[in-house]
Amino acid sequence: MQHNSLWHTMETADQVAVAAYQQILECAEHAIAEHGSFKLVLAGGSTPEKVYHLLAKANADWAKWFIYYGDERCLPIDHADRNSLAATQAFLEKVAIPNMQIFTIPAELGPEQGAKKYQQVVAAALPFDMVLLGMGEDGHTASLFPGHQHQEDELAHAVYNSPKPPPERVSISAKALSNTQQLIFLITGTNKQEAVKNWRSGQDLPVATISAKNPVDIYIDRDAYNP
Ligand code: 6PG
Repeated sequence: MQHNSLWHTMETADQVAVAAYQQILECAEHAIAEHGSFKLVLAGGSTPEKVYHLLAKANADWAKWFIYYGDERCLPIDHADRNSLAATQAFLEKVAIPNMQIFTIPAELGPEQGAKKYQQVVAAALPFDMVLLGMGEDGHTASLFPGHQHQEDELAHAVYNSPKPPPERVSISAKALSNTQQLIFLITGTNKQEAVKNWRSGQDLPVATISAKNPVDIYIDRDAYNP
């Protein structure tokens, strides 16, 4: 388990979302004051959606926000299972972030082409200010799965044979995800208990390969972790 991680255990998934939402807004204000922009990497999956709905109602200096994605499924750009569609419908289409500042992963091009193109986007973006990540039941995060080998110096990976459908994806690498001021894991639900226990016991899981310049914040509800 990362030595510089802070576990914030909340009673409910709603409290997890509110706490993470508040930290994101604070991080944005600080980043904009410090360097004139806020570079945020969005998480895929369903857990972050509560946070996205809260952000959709926030007052923020949206013109200074730059949006990236931690990973994307290799599906058509308007497919219901795309992470970008979920984030757009819950958050991005409801706030005034300029479209040219939203960097969708071109995963519809397939893993190789998608990763090749997004590698350039990530290189131009680093360092991030805030990265949001979820965790799967096997301890995966973004589309970094247990047992998968990747070239560590890559900024974006082509992913094949994902155990979580669809099988082909594009993922930002652990190295690039860790090149951020702050990083939040959002973990809720009883189905994550086993992976949390394995992570905390020191298992070498993908979630354990991620760090940040500041301590990683893990927002987790009692269903996922009840010490
Ligand atoms: C994806 C996500 C993936 C997700 C976890 C947790 O594309 O599926 O990037 O890494 O964050 O699997 O998913 P849930 O939040 O839906 O449990």
